[in-house]
Order: sequence, then structure tokens, then C-alpha cells
Amino acid sequence: MPGRLQDKVVIVTGAASGLGEASARRMVEEGAVVLLADIAEARGRELEQELGSRASFVRCDVTSEADVAGAIDIAVQRHGRLDCMFNNAGAVGASGPIDDLTLEEFEFATSVLLRSVFLGMKHAARVMKPQGSGVILSTTSIAGVEGGWGPHLYAAAKGGVIGLTRNVASELGTYGIRVVAIGPGKMVSPMTVARVVDDPNDPEALAAAFRSRTPLRDRPGLPEDVANAAVWLASDEAGFVSGTTIMVDGGLTSGSKEGIGPEGLGSWSRRPK
Ligand SMILES: NC(=O)c1ccc[n+]([C@@H]2O[C@H](COP(=O)([O-])OP(=O)(O)OC[C@H]3O[C@@H](n4cnc5c(N)ncnc54)[C@H](O)[C@@H]3O)[C@@H](O)[C@H]2O)c1
Repeated sequence: MPGRLQDKVVIVTGAASGLGEASARRMVEEGAVVLLADIAEARGRELEQELGSRASFVRCDVTSEADVAGAIDIAVQRHGRLDCMFNNAGAVGASGPIDDLTLEEFEFATSVLLRSVFLGMKHAARVMKPQGSGVILSTTSIAGVEGGWGPHLYAAAKGGVIGLTRNVASELGTYGIRVVAIGPGKMVSPMTVARVVDDPNDPEALAAAFRSRTPLRDRPGLPEDVANAAVWLASDEAGFVSGTTIMVDGGLTSGSKEGIGPEGLGSWSRRPK
């Protein structure tokens, strides 16, 4: 049976680890041809070997316009088109009080998290407009929609990804191109694990740390949760979804200020006696 992304040509940035790696794996399983774009060359090449002929690694620093444009040109030269650009690579960047952050730290965070997405959208649009089709996905974060979930500069850049997604979608819709952001919550990935638990191999500690204050409490968020959303969004099944952010956060940004479930503080899910 053909996969949900059968023969679609996809670039995933940040594909050597975490959410990008899981997405690349799922997309290959669903029949896509995937370019693994990352600066982590050794890990990227390992993954390329493991995933077989439908995956190939391309070294790409997403802060460099030449690299991003080059990765997109490689996809088109090798496969004739680009069906999905997934702007996912990122790094947390500096944290600290606002009066202590440096301009260099601002430049780093915004270039790896926001300029990268601008470049991905710009060069994907260059090849998708003449095609008259395509999907541009970008990874934002709960930190982009609510205060306090990440460092200041990270939050600013992730908010920018949401704004860019909305605006670019309103331009590219007329060309048949969908533009969507994915907003992960507290996910277990190499980016976060080291910051939350002492022993990343202790599943209990991990589950406890990641599910705290998330309405869906039975398990932590996993890279595969983002991967499944990315597969759906890249597929024709999501053909009327554009200009929005799909949160994959276990309900974390539902807006509730207190848990109202059985263990929560609020009583709104109980009938008064
Ligand atoms: N893990 C979470 O809980 C979480 C939550 C919300 C959003 N996110 C976002 O998800 C995305 C992926 O994060 P992750 O958790 O998988 O992190 P990760 O550290 O596991 O993977 C990030 C990948 O991006 C690559 N990368 C970093 N800088 C790059 C650059 N300049 N050019 C190309 N590649 C580069 C790294 O080499 C790595 O392979 C990021 O945008 C992150 O901000 C993660």
C-alpha cells in the first residue's frame, strides 16, 4: 500500500537529532524521499545509512543563506521538485535576565531560530511557486505562544516563527502552498533532557519531569508525537490547513491557570453536591 507521503520530496532541517530525526524516520516510513539537513555531519551520515535509499544527508547550516538555498537546489536537482520544507533545526541559545543578555546572544538565538525559518520559507517559495504546490512547516514552541516557557530570546524567535507563518501563508495560499507551524510542548529530546533530569536514562524521572503541569499526564511528550503531526501536515490529508500553529503540547497551552481534573486544584469538572 502506498504511504501517506508516497514519493513526496521533503527536506527536514535539524534531522540528525530529536524531533527532526523522528520526523525524518516517520516520513521515510510513509514513502517520502527525505533530505536530512543538519550541521551534525557524523550523526547525519549514520542516519542516512540506517534509513536507506530514500534518505540522504546534506550538510546545511540553517543560519547560512547559501547553505539553505543549496540544500533546496540539491533536492530539486536530484528529485525534480520539493513538496515539503520542514524548518525544524534549532538550539536553545542563551538564558538569563533581560538586562544581562548581549547583542551577540540575541543575534545567535534569532539567527538559528528565526532567520533560519525566513531563509527556509524564502527559498522553498522560490521553487514551490512555479510548481503551484508545496507545504512549508516550521517548528515553533509553547514558548512562542505563552510567557515563561523558555529563555527571552528563544521565546521572541519562536513568536516570530508564528507571525511569519501566518503572513507567508496569506501570500502563498494563492500559489497552492500551505504554510503551518508546529508548536511542541515539553518533549523528551536531547535538547531538553539534559536540562531537566540528572539521569537521562531514568524513565521514571523523565516522565515525572516532563508531564508536570501538562493536562495529558499519563506520559511525557515524545519526538514521535511531533513526527506524527508533521506527517499529517505534509500529507494531502491536511490539504485545507494553512496559516495556523498546530500545538503538540498535551494541552499545556489550553489557557487553564489551574488543573481542573481529579488531581487538580480547581473544582470546575465536579458537580456541586
Ligand atoms: N524538545 C522540546 O521540548 C522542544 C519544545 C519546543 C520546541 N522545540 C523545537 O524543536 C526543534 C528541534 O529541537 P529538538 O528538541 O529536536 O533538539 P535537538 O537538539 O535534539 O536537535 C536539534 C538539531 O538541530 C541541529 N542544528 C542546530 N543548529 C543548527 C544549524 N545552525 N544548522 C543546522 N542544524 C542545526 C542540531 O545539530 C540537532 O541535530 C527546535 O527548533 C526546538 O526549538 C523543541
